Amino acid sequence: MTTFIQGLPKVELHLHIEGTLEPELMFELAKRNQISIPFSSPEEVQAAYQFDNLQSFLDIYYQGANVLIDEQDFYDLTWAYLLRCKQDNVVHTEIFFDPQTHTARGIAFETVINGIDRAMQDGKQQLGISSQIIMCFLRHLDQESAFETLGQAIAFKDKIIGVGLDSSEQGHPPEKFKEVFEAAINEGFLTVAHAGEEGPAENIHNAMKLLGVARVDHGVRCVEDPALVEQLIEERMPLTVCPLSNTKLKVFENMEDHNVIELLRKGLCITINSDDPAYFGGYMTDNFMAVASAIDVTEQELAQLSLNAIEASFISESEKGRLRGLVKQYCL
Ligand code: HPA
Ligand code: ZN
Repeated sequence: MTTFIQGLPKVELHLHIEGTLEPELMFELAKRNQISIPFSSPEEVQAAYQFDNLQSFLDIYYQGANVLIDEQDFYDLTWAYLLRCKQDNVVHTEIFFDPQTHTARGIAFETVINGIDRAMQDGKQQLGISSQIIMCFLRHLDQESAFETLGQAIAFKDKIIGVGLDSSEQGHPPEKFKEVFEAAINEGFLTVAHAGEEGPAENIHNAMKLLGVARVDHGVRCVEDPALVEQLIEERMPLTVCPLSNTKLKVFENMEDHNVIELLRKGLCITINSDDPAYFGGYMTDNFMAVASAIDVTEQELAQLSLNAIEASFISESEKGRLRGLVKQYCL
């Protein structure tokens, strides 16, 4: 099973680039930029990664991002992630970034996007990995700040395929961002949103109804509303599920309790993703392995997860056809 999973061509649809900051790179960038961090070694950083819930993770994750200053830092961060993609046979990835985490610290929007984009171009040329960028609004901030961020993104429209919504779900429901998502859609952006991770099934429903999402990020709490589950099946609405994230943040106590395979078998368009791999203990192969080790699953079902991700991706039909060919050839 390990060999099958490792070699399976994969597509990642739920990955926060700030969440790929490994402790070693955090230390290197802190030194390069003379930023003080409250840890004395990469091992100490790793030891601090014990979380009780989403908020306890977000606090440490936003702090980590403080070491990212120059365009080269964003390049190095993204390049390191793409090298991990190569190891894991990830052939296409759609990368989230949180502009407000950086602009609030005085880092220019263009510094961030240009660093990420340059690494993505090199990833295509040197590693053969295709990628796209989705910018997320931080939902703990107000809609006005999201509008300001949307305004900054317009000049970089050719580099950004969609907008998303992340950060603290509880107390910040989708309806808070209805108008800015409407404006983003009018500007031609596709939309996605984190919903039903820590928040109720109602957030999934409202993300679809009010934010026009093409995918739901996480979405695992959909099971609390059977009518919603039926709707997700009917519409083939993709869920970007992140197994190691969910157990680390205690959305599920144990991987054995995770509903990812149960939802796949019900006929939902389920995908497996790594979310914030440097913080949650693993990249794509690790996430597939964690599921396959805890839950009985066939190679055919694992391949279906890859085919679902291709279906749910924001690439052209011809590119989807090419990637499906890779999966099918691998499974022969
Ligand atoms: N949920 C909400 N916000 C996030 C996450 C997540 O899983 N990862 C990074 N920001
Ligand atoms: Zn996420």
